[in-house]
Amino acid sequence: MALGLLLSLAVAVAAQIDTFCPPVPFHGFPDTCPSTPTRGPNSTIGVCTQDFDIIGSGLEAVHESIQAPTGLAVDSTLNVYLTYPRNSGPTPKNVVLATSFTEEEPWPSADIQNCTPSQNISECFINVQNVVLDSLGQMWVIDSGIAPGQSSAVLFGTKVMSFNVTTRELIRTYFIPESLLYENMNANDLRINNTLGTNGYAFITDASAAGSLITINLDDGSASRRLFNTTVTRADRNFVGSYNGRPLYGWNGTTKLFPKTGSDGIALASGNVYWGVLASRRYYFILQSTLVDDTISDKDMLDAVQDPGQLGSEQAGFTADDRGRVYIMASEHNAIYYVDTVQSEMREEVNGVAPGGSGLVATENYMVKTLVRSGLIQHADSAAIMDGWLYFCTNQLALSPARQYNNVDARKGPFRSYRTRIGRGPAA
Ligand SMILES: *[C@@H]1O[C@H](CO)[C@@H](O)[C@H](O)[C@H]1NC(C)=O
Ligand SMILES: *[C@@H]1O[C@H](CO)[C@@H](O)[C@H](O)[C@H]1NC(C)=O
Ligand SMILES: *[C@@H]1O[C@H](CO)[C@@H](O)[C@H](O)[C@H]1NC(C)=O
Ligand SMILES: *[C@@H]1O[C@H](CO)[C@@H](O)[C@H](O)[C@H]1NC(C)=O
Ligand SMILES: *[C@@H]1O[C@H](CO)[C@@H](O)[C@H](O)[C@H]1NC(C)=O
Ligand SMILES: *[C@@H]1O[C@H](CO)[C@@H](O)[C@H](O)[C@H]1NC(C)=O
Repeated sequence: MALGLLLSLAVAVAAQIDTFCPPVPFHGFPDTCPSTPTRGPNSTIGVCTQDFDIIGSGLEAVHESIQAPTGLAVDSTLNVYLTYPRNSGPTPKNVVLATSFTEEEPWPSADIQNCTPSQNISECFINVQNVVLDSLGQMWVIDSGIAPGQSSAVLFGTKVMSFNVTTRELIRTYFIPESLLYENMNANDLRINNTLGTNGYAFITDASAAGSLITINLDDGSASRRLFNTTVTRADRNFVGSYNGRPLYGWNGTTKLFPKTGSDGIALASGNVYWGVLASRRYYFILQSTLVDDTISDKDMLDAVQDPGQLGSEQAGFTADDRGRVYIMASEHNAIYYVDTVQSEMREEVNGVAPGGSGLVATENYMVKTLVRSGLIQHADSAAIMDGWLYFCTNQLALSPARQYNNVDARKGPFRSYRTRIGRGPAA
């Protein structure tokens, strides 16, 4: 190519740049990031390289764990209980009571923490996933009964146990019968309604790949497994999440996998059971009285499930307050989301329905919103409400070996649990 042609091309390009890209910013886009962010309502968005919104009120650290916790409960005197599950190996303590910011003691006792050959597995912990306080002040423990490195639950190991929170005495144990333990049933999380039926019900998510919801009648101890391997309990096919701005696969060495965790987070509100499918951005609800009704066919049960639309995040934990608000641990966004289920709590018009009013929010008008978003929230997992505070634990689950290329452990503890003020009490 001749030099003259090159030059004239360069001039043409320069002329174009002159036309479309003036050297001075004529729209007034700020070219420096203010040292102290002072964003007015009309400030340009995207000025600083780390221009992420921090949303909501402050977070107060309440405890620091060396191991990554999955479960969290709070009693009426604001004691914090945590679980250290054994999905990827043994842990010395499975359930603890936090005795200071960094110290813990085994709860309810040291003896119960690890089943030994001399113990009956019905009386000790195999792999506790969560703890939850009920409205009578009883503390409930859910044990998946799946020993470290195993994939199947064992009869009498898979159980829920209730304890007197003051005396630490065992009140009652409910076993999930062998007939329900098929297809890697993985009892993961639970909530108790003490007033449904004659003596209350336990509602349990099964986080197996097929997924299901388990209910236990706390009067006669009978249990049912419903919605097994349905679209509302099963992971998305080929689900890929996102964490701290990075896409997230499952890995076995350098073999790419897709996470398959099914129904996981669960909460009770407004007479409904709310749950999410972990490896998805979906959540659902169904009337508690419908889910516990064994006369309802599988097809009718699936038809009764309400689908309020996706919520925009993978999620592992739910909880609910006494005004019908359901909180969702939105792990993909370092956030906690919420959704109001009671119309009188609605603050915006949605689909022509004015804010306020009475009754429950219609399924199509559910509007998921953000309570808090902060870099401190590194995979919030379980949450509990007490005395106006929402407590939650964080565990960096997405950075754990099963989710990292070549199975490196990218988690960097200690792992903090926090509380944030909501001015509400727990759902009853
Ligand atoms: C923001 O922009 C709106 C619309 O142009 C204007 O009415 C308002 O006064 C501005 N607010 C501030 C703080 O500049
Ligand atoms: C273990 O406990 C279960 C439930 O109480 C009981 O049915 C079973 O017989 C016990 N097993 C042994 C070996 O004692
Ligand atoms: C726990 O035990 C104490 C002392 O015996 C008793 O007063 C209380 O009612 C019990 N609480 C529950 C929830 O059973
Ligand atoms: C679950 O359902 C899917 C789709 O119908 C089917 O391919 C799969 O085999 C089922 N899994 C189990 C454990 O029944
Ligand atoms: C991971 O890969 C190894 C070696 O190929 C294989 O033996 C093992 O079963 C795989 N594990 C899973 C969970 O797929
Ligand atoms: C518990 O069950 C009762 C009786 O059906 C119901 O009125 C109440 O709303 C349920 N609680 C929650 C939190 O959903």
